[in-house]
Amino acid sequence: MAQTTTREANKENERTQKARLRTPTGFKEEEAKEIAKQLNGVLADCFTLYLKAKNFHWHLSGPHFRDYHLLFEEQAQEIFRMIDPLAERVRRVGSTTIRSIGDIVRLQKLDDNNADFVEAADMLEELIEDNQILLARLRDARSCCEEYEDVGSTSLLEEWIDQTEKRIWFLYETSRPHLSGGH
Ligand SMILES: [Fe+2]
Repeated sequence: MAQTTTREANKENERTQKARLRTPTGFKEEEAKEIAKQLNGVLADCFTLYLKAKNFHWHLSGPHFRDYHLLFEEQAQEIFRMIDPLAERVRRVGSTTIRSIGDIVRLQKLDDNNADFVEAADMLEELIEDNQILLARLRDARSCCEEYEDVGSTSLLEEWIDQTEKRIWFLYETSRPHLSGGH
């Protein structure tokens, strides 16, 4: 009996703690949950892509070292700048966000690259593919936010879609000599 009471008290305590993180907004609980699911997915892939761009920035080798080294850093910083606004947006719509590397692993769609050595041309191709996957995720998130009239998230996502398209453009143009065998 006493044990049941303690368990119930613990459950009640847990419910109260969760309720404290439920920011009051105009969104229904289900809507906030769906928006958060989309944004947290994008966030997980931002962490993954940020780290991969830094990985390639650090482990690059070859004649285009300086150009690619700078390009990867520039893109890593742009992706990094998405992270905090994304997480805070989730909190603002009334839900909770990523808490650990474990959460990122559970939500990421992009693959890590733990190879000992990656050719510079392969780095470019992989970053193009990853940014395309992120782009699709951003577009899905935008559609969801638009459906629930989450204007704040929608406008942020639109800006990030444009940035991602630009990253793909730069990576694609930079990779063309490799693909065509030109110079
Ligand atoms: Fe650096």
